[in-house]
Amino acid sequence: MEIDYKKLIQASIDAQKNCYAPYSKFSVGASVLCESGKIYTGANIENASFPAGICAERVAFSKAISEGEKNFVAICITNSKDSFAYPCGVCRQFLSEFGSDLVVIIAKNINEFETHKLSELLPHSFDKKICFSII
Ligand code: THU
Repeated sequence: MEIDYKKLIQASIDAQKNCYAPYSKFSVGASVLCESGKIYTGANIENASFPAGICAERVAFSKAISEGEKNFVAICITNSKDSFAYPCGVCRQFLSEFGSDLVVIIAKNINEFETHKLSELLPHSFDKKICFSII
């Protein structure tokens, strides 16, 4: 499927407005393009008990999965600091459950972005093939 990069980046930037980040003051937005063609978005949600917070990437993916999506093409991640911010290790593992061919777009703004494959960001991932012999 062809990826409309600008559309995905704009959706990710727009998603930042609903973040809940009173502690870090660092807004993160994520937009996920599904094979269905639909885009789901998410923002980071922090908590006074810090480990209970959740990253934007997992919010967006969880929204998509809980709406019945199973196949993913790309995720775009943006933040409020106009910088390239890569997904944390927990998010890399979470996303890899659903396929390591995922295109990960790290965008600084609408015009400046990088693309990576998830398999490049999380080589030798721990997966269901190894542990449970599930393909
Ligand atoms: N954050 C994300 O939303 N995604 C990441 O991949 C890394 C970090 C959030 C979590 C927290 O709300 C803030 O950024 C600062 O760590």
